[in-house]
Amino acid sequence: MFIDCSEKERFIFAKIAHAAAQLETECYIIGGFVRDKILGRETADVDIVCLGDGIELAHATARLFHPQPRVSFFKNFGTAHIKVDDLDIEFVGARKESYRYHSRKPEVTPGTLEDDQQRRDFTINALAISLNPNNYGALIDPFEGIQALEAKMIRTPLDPDQTFSDDPLRMMRAIRFASQLRFFIEEHTWQGIQNNIERIHIISQERITDELNKILLSKKPSVGLDLLYQSGLLHIIFPQMIDLAGAEYKDGMGHKDNFYHTLQVVDNIAENTDDLWLRWAALLHDIGKPATKRFEEGHGWTFHGHEVVGGRMVPKIFARFRLPMDHKMRFVKKLVELHLRPISLTKENITDSAIRRLLFDAGDDIDALMTLCKADITSKNKQKVKRYLDNFEMVRYRLEAVEESDRIRNWQPPVTGEMIMEIFGLPPCKQVGDIKNAIRDAILDGEIENNYDAAYDFMLKTAKAFNLEPVK
Ligand code: CTP
Repeated sequence: MFIDCSEKERFIFAKIAHAAAQLETECYIIGGFVRDKILGRETADVDIVCLGDGIELAHATARLFHPQPRVSFFKNFGTAHIKVDDLDIEFVGARKESYRYHSRKPEVTPGTLEDDQQRRDFTINALAISLNPNNYGALIDPFEGIQALEAKMIRTPLDPDQTFSDDPLRMMRAIRFASQLRFFIEEHTWQGIQNNIERIHIISQERITDELNKILLSKKPSVGLDLLYQSGLLHIIFPQMIDLAGAEYKDGMGHKDNFYHTLQVVDNIAENTDDLWLRWAALLHDIGKPATKRFEEGHGWTFHGHEVVGGRMVPKIFARFRLPMDHKMRFVKKLVELHLRPISLTKENITDSAIRRLLFDAGDDIDALMTLCKADITSKNKQKVKRYLDNFEMVRYRLEAVEESDRIRNWQPPVTGEMIMEIFGLPPCKQVGDIKNAIRDAILDGEIENNYDAAYDFMLKTAKAFNLEPVK
């Protein structure tokens, strides 16, 4: 075989070939599986294309295995799926496609293998391996896909304007592959993307988000994010990111380009975590900056409160991208809100109390916060970077020491809101929250000890100031 397959894969492909022979049809392995095998990437998704009915071939293949895998199929699309061992195998008949302008759903008619190859998105995804007796295992590559793989090039088999107009999701895919594989996009193909960016509007948000997530999960996400920016696609799919771009100057004072700073932070964090949500936090950490930008005479540019404004933007952005509105969103929001805290502690104010507060506010997300914070150190000034890193290490050291002695991470104050309501006969109201916060602050600041008796006495004193007496 032209591609290097495991014993198991060979065995399964032989069965598919056998089933195709029974049906007197030709079949081929095609697309991403062939590409990834040649690149030496892990892959478990196999696409099989046959010159006939894909669903029939799936059933005939399934019958050759014991136990028989279940065949799930979509009659409307003419596709069928079976799972054998860890392989997800998708069957489809070779097709010619023509698209309607307002939809990415094509009119499908049966076609030859070459028709099928040329309707695919990129030449690197149009490679086929024969499973037929006359040339079993041979590569069929009419569009120079191998050359493109060697040159690390993304190019469409047809005129790019047609490929992208037919299915505009492919613009996102081109950029995603460029980011994932570190390939470049061939000039005409790149031009084709720029010509068609407006067509992205016909693509569902879920699919766009899926590609954006894949870009974020690539080894160096800035490659894809910058291509999205350069192509004009980012302006349409994520305008808030565009607001970060550029640097303004006044009285000879400028600020950094927050778009490229953000890209650097995302790349930095990608070296330390594969967690998608932590990468999202890096992407959004400064998203509140454009809205808070001010020029202060004699002082320069400031972005006061951008972490609070940014935190408030997170749920809206998650909703727009149809990302989960659950603990993952809350995690990203919290990190955006807290991202300045560790580094804003300078040597003089790294008190136990400041450290306890940070631990209390971050809770179990303290390690993620520290990872984000470290990634955020991007200055070109080496001395500044060194100062920040030293400071960062100091904070990390102190966090460990304080957590070791006080166990604040998952701590809750010894007097709860319910207790306060019961003791003073209060309904839920602001005073209850004020008293509770005062107790928490006193403990975190080390004013009183962290136990019930001390908290109770302090509560009585605080309540007196509000003219409150215990009811019993
Ligand atoms: N394809 C296409 N246009 C699309 C999506 C897919 O032409 N918009 C074709 C490509 O030939 C691709 C194959 O269908 O290789 C399988 O698609 P898919 O599984 O989505 O992508 P892969 O290329 O396998 O890559 P990945 O799994 O990383 O998405």
